[in-house]
Formats: sequence, C-alpha cells, structure tokens
Amino acid sequence: MTDPNPSFFDAASTTDEVLIDIDLNGRVAAVTGASGGLGLETARSLAARGASVVLAARSEDKLNAAVQTIRARHPDAALSTVMLDLADVTSCRRAAFEVLSSVDRLDLLINNAGVMCTPFGRTINGFETQIGTNHLGHMAWTIPLMDLLTQDGGGRIVNLSSAGHRFSDVDLDDLDFERRPYDPWSGYGASKTANVLFSVELERRLGPLGVRALAVHPGGIHTDLGRHMTPDLLAEIQERIAQSNPTGFDWKSIPQGAATTVWAATTSIFADRGGVYCEDCHEAPVVDIDDAGSGGVLAYAVDPDRAAALWDRSMTLLAAI
Ligand SMILES: NC(=O)c1ccc[n+]([C@@H]2O[C@H](COP(=O)([O-])OP(=O)(O)OC[C@H]3O[C@@H](n4cnc5c(N)ncnc54)[C@H](OP(=O)(O)O)[C@@H]3O)[C@@H](O)[C@H]2O)c1
Repeated sequence: MTDPNPSFFDAASTTDEVLIDIDLNGRVAAVTGASGGLGLETARSLAARGASVVLAARSEDKLNAAVQTIRARHPDAALSTVMLDLADVTSCRRAAFEVLSSVDRLDLLINNAGVMCTPFGRTINGFETQIGTNHLGHMAWTIPLMDLLTQDGGGRIVNLSSAGHRFSDVDLDDLDFERRPYDPWSGYGASKTANVLFSVELERRLGPLGVRALAVHPGGIHTDLGRHMTPDLLAEIQERIAQSNPTGFDWKSIPQGAATTVWAATTSIFADRGGVYCEDCHEAPVVDIDDAGSGGVLAYAVDPDRAAALWDRSMTLLAAI
C-alpha cells in the first residue's frame, strides 16, 4: 500500500480523502460495530476502495440495513456479515471462527464497536459492561483471528480508543468494579485505556511477524454512542470538554471521525512499527495529565509492563469461560 502524502491529513480529513490513492482490491477487512456510526462509515470507505469487508455487529436487522446503505452508494461492494455480541464471550469466539471459515486472509481487523457510560451492569459472563464489551469481548474475538492476519506489513489491527482514556487507568486488581463504587465515566475511561494497552501488547506479540497494532481516538462525533448518558453525565462531560478546550471544541462529521481509523489501517508510516495512539490522522504524543488541551495519550495507557499485565489478567478471566 502506498501513502501519497501522510503529513497532509489532519482533523478535517475524511475517510475518502485519506483513502483516495489507496487500492484495497484483494484485501479483506473485518469491522466490529459496523451496523452504525463510525463503524458503518469505516466499512463503507474500505469497501469503496475495493476491500472485501466483513461487517460484524449484534443486530441482524441493523447489519442488513448497513449492507443496504453501503450498496446504495457502492453497488459492487464485496460485503458479508457476521453476528457478534461483544458482551458474550461465546458469541465472540463463534463469530471469529465463522470469519476463519469464510475468508482465507485477513488484512485489516478494525475493533471499533463500543458502549459508553452504561449504567452499572454485567455482561452475560459477569464482567462489568464497559470493560466486558469494549475490551474483553474484543480480546476474545481477536485472539482466534491473530493467525489469520497478513504477515507482510499490510496486516493491521486498529482498536478504537478515546480521549476518554484520560478519565481512568485500568485497575488490574479490580477490572470489574467488584471492590469499589462504580462510576460510568471511570468505567468508560478504563475500558478505553484497556484498548490502548491491548494495542501495545498486540504490537509486541505480532509486530515481529509483520502485523501492526494501533489505537485510535476518532475525535468528538455525534453518533449513538451517547445513548446511555443521563443529563448529569452529559453535564459532566460538557464541563470537562469546556475545561480542556477553552477556545471551543470542534465536532467532527462521521467521515472525519472515521478517517483516523482508515488512515492508521493503511498508512505506510506504520508498515514497520506500531503500538501507538493516533488522533487527527497523526501519531499522538505522550502527554502529562496536567498539560493543557485534550490531545495526546497519557503514559499509563502506553506502559508496556501494564500492557503485558492487562493481557495476562484478561487471559485468566477469559480462560475461565
Ligand atoms: N463518537 C465519538 O465521539 C467517539 C469518541 C471517542 C471514541 N469513540 C469510539 O468509537 C467507537 C465507535 O463509536 P460510535 O461513535 O460509532 O458509536 P455508536 O454509533 O454507538 O456505534 C457503536 C457500534 O458498536 C456496536 N455495539 C455496541 N455494543 C455491542 C455489543 N455488545 N456487541 C457488538 N456490537 C456492539 C453498536 O451496535 P448496536 O447499535 O446494536 O448497539 C454499534 O454498531 C467506540 O469504540 C467509541 O468508544 C467515539
């Protein structure tokens, strides 16, 4: 894959702009949460450049509607669907094995699905909903697919994180809020930190094989992600955004929001390195929490020792199911 001018792209770039000179014919991509929001646009834009795309999500009706939406713009798009409920480890493994039996290669694995600020709850496996869905579910689905990823520098895993990783580190001794009060923003923050740490450890394990792993913050985009927010939680996030962005906050369109995902998935910048956090179509710097502004990644989210520890802890939890 070529990268015509990587430094050109920024917060305003869209998916189609990022991919304009990228040829994905013969490539296979899988996108979780492809039934709506950023995932649907990610799947559409990759299919538009010739990729064969597996759309993964938990609602058959929404998946079928997503396929119709993409086909309305790209009648020849090569699309298939797989049912995946990330809140159910058995569903994650079944979906991954369905992919393994239906495609003979996987170039781009886009772990995009997510929930935010859910009221306290547990997945079918007893994990707290946000860490269970956003991290453990994606890990259960990714592990069987690791061997399928192309090992020529083009194989990529992109994990959707968030600037919300700043709200909390992971608590390795209490991932599931069993021994401390639950807070929806802390739960979301920890799950998004876990998405970055997962990328760091995937890169350590798969990088030497030529498969790169990246974490992405897409920006702030109006999607259905806020569906669980109460007025109080909304007020809290508005206050945080105002404090971090004193001169105002620029919301992105959905094609702008999905642009960093498809950039990280295809740019030649990451042909031989990864394990980093990207935003606005660039690799983000590691920053201190007291730094003004909302950009960059906090050091705890890219700490290789914590990434390895989270992997081990998560494997122990998943092995029990
Ligand atoms: N939008 C933003 O401003 C923003 C900012 C930072 C990070 N992000 C991250 O970007 C990613 C995409 O978010 P979005 O804004 O596109 O949100 P969205 O519009 O709510 O889409 C989320 C997708 O995830 C799916 N999903 C949720 N729970 C699932 C489960 N248990 N199993 C399988 N799929 C499930 C949803 O399917 P259903 O419709 O069936 O629930 C939907 O397809 C998330 O990881 C989010 O954390 C978004």
